[in-house]
Amino acid sequence: MAKASTESMNIDSIKPGEIGPTGRPWPKLPAVAPAKSGHKQAQIIAMTNQKGGVGKTTTTINLGGALVETGRKVLLVDFDPQASLSVGMGINVHEIERSIYDLLVSRDSVTLDDALMHTSIANLDVLPATIDLSVAEMQLVAEMARERALLKALAPAQDRYDYILIDCLPSLGLLTINALTAADGVIIPLECEYFALRGMAMLTHTIERVRESLNPKLSLIGILPTMYDNRTIHSREVLDRVLGEFGESVFHTVIRRTVKFPETTVAGEPITTYASSSSGAVAYRSLAREVLARCA
Ligand SMILES: Nc1ncnc2c1ncn2[C@@H]1O[C@H](COP(=O)(O)OP(=O)(O)OP(=O)(O)O)[C@@H](O)[C@H]1O
Ligand SMILES: [Mg+2]
Repeated sequence: MAKASTESMNIDSIKPGEIGPTGRPWPKLPAVAPAKSGHKQAQIIAMTNQKGGVGKTTTTINLGGALVETGRKVLLVDFDPQASLSVGMGINVHEIERSIYDLLVSRDSVTLDDALMHTSIANLDVLPATIDLSVAEMQLVAEMARERALLKALAPAQDRYDYILIDCLPSLGLLTINALTAADGVIIPLECEYFALRGMAMLTHTIERVRESLNPKLSLIGILPTMYDNRTIHSREVLDRVLGEFGESVFHTVIRRTVKFPETTVAGEPITTYASSSSGAVAYRSLAREVLARCA
């Protein structure tokens, strides 16, 4: 297989036909078309993998940052009681008065604007989470349409954003089912390590079940290899196995392991602004182009 050309890329150095990091030739990435003006109908994307620490939160924040650069208006939904996305966007969780939890369980008395927080980046907003969300699952169980609570909570946001990105918690419980029921598509971040494929059958089965019973429009947008280390044969082998198993569902973009990502969490902003010319920022920009193409 030809050697992957992942060194010092920038978005313009990605040439259609050249071998990319997955060993496949890069497709033609769409030129960034301006967002449609006027009435919006957000594409809702759930970042899902029940395995912990695979890059769901990192991908939600940085894909959001990269989509905003293309002129899109983006809402990031923190749907994990750990509130990592809220923290990673620089929000002081002790100062959150209303969160996604309140929207879910008190829809009649709490509005979207009560919970919504703007960030230092124009057109990038956050629906924060707090630890309260950990009891929502139990409270929702008693509800009639318990799988549709998030869909209803996000309804007023649909015509205000181009993309709504939901950062799921590492579980396939009722909260994740809510995210999959609200979503148009799923992105699965997959860490390039030995046990990466464990649990994938259960995840794809869950997506299939939600599609059949709750949300026929749900699609798999793509599988995103994360924490790839091109210096190890091991990473390469795992990536080859992932490609063998999932073929064209795997994005051409691969996110490499770099300490820049943990640093951005401390900085409280996406890598696209924190380290704009880093390879990590470029990778998320190329992911954004792929997502725009796959969601078109
Ligand atoms: N490409 C990367 N290179 C190096 N470190 C990374 C990379 N992506 C994420 N990390 C770090 O790995 C840790 C886990 O990432 P992240 O929080 O995005 O995963 P997650 O899937 O959201 O985890 P959880 O399941 O707990 O919600 C974080 O400390 C993050 O900064
Ligand atoms: Mg997370």
